[in-house]
Amino acid sequence: MSTTAVGIDIGGTGIKGAVVDLASGELVSERSKVATPEGGRPEDIVAAVKDMVDELGVDERDAPIGVCFPAVIAGGRTLSAANVSDEWIGLKAEKLFERALDRDIHFVNDADAAGFAEVQYGAAHNSDGHVIVTTLGTGIGTAFIYDGVLIPNVELGHLEINGVDWETKASNAAREREELSWEQWAARLQKFYSRLETYFHPELFIVGGGVSKSHEEFLPLLDLKTRIVPAKLRNNAGILGAAALASPEHARRGKHRSK
Ligand code: BGC
Repeated sequence: MSTTAVGIDIGGTGIKGAVVDLASGELVSERSKVATPEGGRPEDIVAAVKDMVDELGVDERDAPIGVCFPAVIAGGRTLSAANVSDEWIGLKAEKLFERALDRDIHFVNDADAAGFAEVQYGAAHNSDGHVIVTTLGTGIGTAFIYDGVLIPNVELGHLEINGVDWETKASNAAREREELSWEQWAARLQKFYSRLETYFHPELFIVGGGVSKSHEEFLPLLDLKTRIVPAKLRNNAGILGAAALASPEHARRGKHRSK
């Protein structure tokens, strides 16, 4: 049985990858990182992923590879494109990667991968009940996990508040772009998490994305009934989750099941 797998995390800003020890959730290679090619077009991103996999030195043909991507993914197709080129919409993207890498991959939404990783190795390890993982980055990603089982393609970052797609106001990119203070940003996050709480009543919120390393600046400013904690895996969550979802053991248990 494979004890390692490759995880590749494609984002609107950067592409990261590493080889992961599936039992411990540790990275067992250097973490490789490149900027997402300008325009986020399919052939450029696929080429960058191929270079990264080559660079990681994964020559074993059957090493499982998981790739996560910032879009709705169903039946191997990318159905949306919020922070990458529109050319992805409707594309048979999984096949495109498989052809370039000359092997099968597991292809999944980036927030779903991050959520799955937090359940396997991080802040929601063995948590029962409903956990909502949110990633605050270029966009806002969301993952629903119930009793360790991932419900894929939940896209709550696009919740409309005051007629506005809320990730354009409350993502970390929006905070940076508008030079918001922590207080100003927290006021926008408050609206977001309050809505989620009202509609879904989770047991736990987990907040990921690179900015979660500064969680002390903004999480204490939120007033919620639900417990809210920073992600443990921070920026490695996508890599770890994509790798874990690609593992043969996971495939045997059925797609998206972690227990
Ligand atoms: C996309 C999601 C993605 C999130 C984080 C959103 O704009 O619609 O699919 O998970 O950004 O990258």
